[in-house]
Amino acid sequence: DASDEELTSRILAAKAELGDRVVVMGHFYQRDEVVRFADFLGDSFQLANAAKARSEAEAIVFCGVHFMAETADMLSGAHQSVILPNLAAGCSMADMADVPSVEACWAELEAFYGTEPDADGRVPVIPVTYMNSSAALKAFCGERGGIVCTSSNAATVLEWAYERGQRVLFFPDQHLGRNTAKAMGIPLEEMPLWNPRQPLGGNSEDVMRNAKVVLWQGFCSVHKRFTTAQIDQARADFPGVRVIVHPECPMEVVDAADESGSTDYILKAVAAAPDGTTFAIGTEINMVNRLAAQYPQHTIFCLDPVICPCSTMYRIHPGYLAWVLEGLVRGEVLNQITVPEATAVHARVALERMLAAKP
Ligand code: 13P
Ligand code: SF4
Repeated sequence: DASDEELTSRILAAKAELGDRVVVMGHFYQRDEVVRFADFLGDSFQLANAAKARSEAEAIVFCGVHFMAETADMLSGAHQSVILPNLAAGCSMADMADVPSVEACWAELEAFYGTEPDADGRVPVIPVTYMNSSAALKAFCGERGGIVCTSSNAATVLEWAYERGQRVLFFPDQHLGRNTAKAMGIPLEEMPLWNPRQPLGGNSEDVMRNAKVVLWQGFCSVHKRFTTAQIDQARADFPGVRVIVHPECPMEVVDAADESGSTDYILKAVAAAPDGTTFAIGTEINMVNRLAAQYPQHTIFCLDPVICPCSTMYRIHPGYLAWVLEGLVRGEVLNQITVPEATAVHARVALERMLAAKP
C-alpha cells in the first residue's frame, strides 16, 4: 500500500504534468484526503453548472458518486471525458428508483388521471426527479415534460412543475419531496407514498384523486439516521445551538431543526455566522468535520454522535485518484463514465429546464 505522502506526491506530480488538461471536481462529502486536490468543490447543483462551464479541460476527474459523473458527462463538452476514480461509488438512494418500476408507476398514473390537460393547460402529472437518480430516469423526465431538481432548488423546480401540471410524481427521495412540498403549504394528505409493488401504489382512489405530489419510497441511508431525539439532546447540551439539517432528513427532523438546506446552504450559513456560534449539523460527517476544522471560531458538531459517513462517497480514495490521473498522463482514460447519446439527449432537456428555472 502506498503511503499518504507517496500518494500525495504522485497526485501532485500527475496534476502538474497535466496542467489545464484536467480538472478535478469534488462534492462536499468527499474525504479531506481527496478534497485537498479538488480544483472545484461544490454541491450537486454547483457541480453540474461547473461541468457545463469548464470547457477547456480534456478530462474531468469527478470525485463524487456515479449519478453526478453521469450528469457531468451530459453537460460537459463533447470533447471532454468524465472519469469516476472508483466505479463502485454509487448512491443507494439513486438505486431505489429503477426505470421499469418508474415506467410502471407512470402507466398507472396515466390510466388513472388520463393525459388531457385541464382548462388552464396543465397536464395531469409532471415527473420530477432528484439529481440523485440515473441518467435514464432524467431522460424519462425529459421525454415527458418533466424536470430535474437538486436540494438547493427543489422549491423553485416544484413551482415550475405546478405551473405546467396539476400534480407531481417526485422520485427517488420521499423526504426531499415531502419537506419541499410541505414548505410550499401542501397538506400531508395530498402527498401519498407510492409503493411500486401495490396497485395505485397502495393508495385509495380518493387519496390519489386529491394527490398534489406522489412520493417515491426512496431515502438516503445517511440522512434518515438523524432524529428529533438528537436535536433535543443538542439543545439540552448546548442552549442556543443552531440546528441545521439537510432536506434529505425525515420531515419531523427538518421541522424540529432551525433551518434546512443543501450542503452549500449549510456551508454559507456557517461562513456567515457571528464568531462563537454553536452549530449542530445534520449531514454527512466528512463535511461536518471539515467545517469544524475550517471555522475554529465556532463550535460545530454532527447531530448524530455515531460517525455516519456516506459509504459510497468514501469509496473515492486518493489511491484511485492517483491511478486515474497517472492514466491520463500516459494517455489512457480509465473509468470513463459515458451516457449513451440516445439517453443523454432527453436527460439534457430535463437538466437544462432545471438550470433555466429561476426562483
Ligand atoms: P447536495 O450537494 O445537493 O446538498 O446533495 C447532497 C447529497 O446527498 C448528494 O448526494
Ligand atoms: Fe446518496 Fe445519501 Fe450518499 Fe448522497 S449522502 S450520495 S443521497 S447515499
